[in-house]
Amino acid sequence: MTTPCMDSPKRFGTVTRVLHWLMAVLFVWQFASVLTHFFAEDSALDSFLWPTHKSVGTLLMLLILVRILWALANTGRRPKPVSWLAGLGHSVLYVLMLAIPLVALLRQFGGGRAFSPFGIPFMPGFEGPKITWMVDLGSNFHGLLGWVLLAAIVGHVAAALWHYFSGEPEILGRIIGK
Ligand code: HEM
Ligand code: HEM
Repeated sequence: MTTPCMDSPKRFGTVTRVLHWLMAVLFVWQFASVLTHFFAEDSALDSFLWPTHKSVGTLLMLLILVRILWALANTGRRPKPVSWLAGLGHSVLYVLMLAIPLVALLRQFGGGRAFSPFGIPFMPGFEGPKITWMVDLGSNFHGLLGWVLLAAIVGHVAAALWHYFSGEPEILGRIIGK
């Protein structure tokens, strides 16, 4: 059975569109927190945004898990990517969206300190030595992959706009819902 919630070969359904744009807004927030921390450390904006980085990142982790399950449930139904490169690009975005918060959360766990995103107890913390491989994995890859994702998002948005202005507005239309 197909409902407007589900994808169809002509357009993405409501759930895919809500997930896409909700996460797009959260990624803007997440990278705003990082860029402010990088370029304007200790500014008022940094003091406001940076303390939200771990909580918003954890929310993004939850949403990507839902998004992956939803994509799997809609396999074969969704619009085909415009090219093999677009398909590869979307797969890369999925892998990075999963790997980046995952290694950060492993580092957080391995550090042994309690963690309560949005004030909700999530990791109780533990006594004793840190779990080195988890801490190292996060420290080596979290930031690096984060910057790669930012570059991939810029490429993705540029490709979407390029299609729009070169006479293929229906490609943006199927994720906007027109
Ligand atoms: C998809 C979600 C996330 C994205 C896109 C993201 C992105 C980034 C980026 C680009 C940096 C800057 C790295 C640098 O300074 O070179 C960073 C730093 C950091 N992030 Fe995230 N992050 C996410 C989720 C999380 C989560 C869930 C946590 C912790 C629970 C976290 C904790 C940190 C910490 C502690 C730093 C500073 C240390 C470091 O550079 O690794 N992030 N993040
Ligand atoms: C202004 C920001 C954005 C615009 C204009 C935009 C545009 C689009 C368009 C036009 C499509 C449909 C492509 C097709 O049908 O082949 C799409 C799909 C997609 N976009 Fe974006 N996008 C934006 C932000 C993002 C962000 C921040 C991410 C993730 C980090 C993302 C990840 C994806 C993925 C994975 C798909 C494939 C459909 C899905 O599985 O949800 N997009 N986007």
